Amino acid sequence: MRKLFITTFLFSLANLPAAAQPLQGLPPGPLGAAIQSGHDMIMQTGTNAASKGYIGNALTCANCHTNAGNNDHPGNFLNTASEYPSFSPREGAVITLEDRIANCFMRSMNGKRPSTDSAVVVDMAAYIDWLDRDKNVEALATPAPSPYPAMVKAANAADYAAGQTLYKQNCAACHGANGAGMGSFPPVWGARSYNAGAGLANIAKLATWVKGNMPLGNPHLSEQQAFQVALYVDTQPRPDFVLQDHLPPGQAYNAKVQSETDSVASNLKKAGLSAAALQGQAP
Ligand code: HEC
Ligand code: HEC
Repeated sequence: MRKLFITTFLFSLANLPAAAQPLQGLPPGPLGAAIQSGHDMIMQTGTNAASKGYIGNALTCANCHTNAGNNDHPGNFLNTASEYPSFSPREGAVITLEDRIANCFMRSMNGKRPSTDSAVVVDMAAYIDWLDRDKNVEALATPAPSPYPAMVKAANAADYAAGQTLYKQNCAACHGANGAGMGSFPPVWGARSYNAGAGLANIAKLATWVKGNMPLGNPHLSEQQAFQVALYVDTQPRPDFVLQDHLPPGQAYNAKVQSETDSVASNLKKAGLSAAALQGQAP
C-alpha cells in the first residue's frame, strides 16, 4: 500500500508539466519575466496565448528541442546564442538568433513567421541567451563529420523496409502506426507534423536527431538503424512548404532567397531518391 502510494506520487511528480516549474536564478524585473515567458512558450507553444496564433500544427518547440533545449541532446540550445549572427545558406543571408527562431515557426511549426521584434521572439531569444549565463565564451569543438549523408546517398529498398520494421518495433507504440501521434505523443508525419521545409525533413538531420533523442528516455538505435528509421519517416506524407504562404505581407524578412517550395518528393529527389524505388515499386 505504502509502496504503491510512493510510486504513484513519484509518477505524478515526473509528469508535472515542465512549464509550470518556475526557472531558478532568474534576474529580477522585466528581464526575468521575459526569460520565464520565453521558456513557457517553448514548452507549450500551441496553448500559450501569446504564441499559439503563429503555429500551424500539433507540435511544440520542445518536442524537438527536448527539455526546452537545456540538455546535451541533438537540438539543444546550449552555446546557441553565441553562434549568431551567422551565415545561413538556406536564406542566403547573415541571420540573427531572432531570425532563426522566427524561421522555425514557419518550417518546423508549419505556421506564420512572427516579426523578429515581437514579444514572442524576443522572449524566446532572452531565454536561449540566459541558458549560457554562467559561461565564458569558449571555442566550440569541431563536431565529428556526420556519417549520415553517405548513408542517404546509398539508400535502397532494403533500408526502407528495415526502417519500416524498426518504426513498428520502436516508435509506433507512442507515435501511432499511422504517424499521427496520440495524446502527448506528437505526430511524426501527416497534416499535423513538421512540413517539408523543416530541418527534420532532411533525412540526415532526422537521423542525427533520432539517434540522440528517440525512443524517448532510451535512445539506443545504432547509426544505421537511426538512418533507416529516418529514411522511412521522411518518405511518408507531410505538408508541402511554400515560403510565401508563411510570410505575413509587408513584414521584413531577412533573406536573399525569397522563393522556395519543398515537398517530400522534391526532398527525396534532391537526395537522388524516389519513394517508388524505396518502396520497391517499378519507377
Ligand atoms: C520538428 C522539430 C522542430 C520543432 C518543432 C522546432 N524546431 Fe527548432 N530546430 C529543429 C532542427 C532539426 C534544427 C537544426 C536545423 C539545422 O541544423 O538546419 C533547429 C534549429 C533551431 C534553432 C537554431 C539552433 C542552433 O543551435 O543554431 C533555434 C533557435 C530553434 N530551432 C528554435 C525553435 C523554436 C523557437 C521553435 C518553436 C517555435 C522550434 N525551434 C521548433 C527542429 C525543430
Ligand atoms: C515512449 C514513447 C516514445 C517512443 C517509443 C518514441 N517517441 Fe518520439 N517522441 C515522444 C515524445 C513524448 C516526443 C516529444 C518530446 C518532448 O516533448 O520532450 C517525441 C518526439 C519525436 C519527434 C519530434 C516531434 C515530432 O513529432 O516530429 C520525432 C521526429 C520522433 N519523436 C520520432 C521518433 C522515432 C523515429 C521513434 C522510434 C525510433 C520514436 N520517436 C519513439 C515519445 C516517443
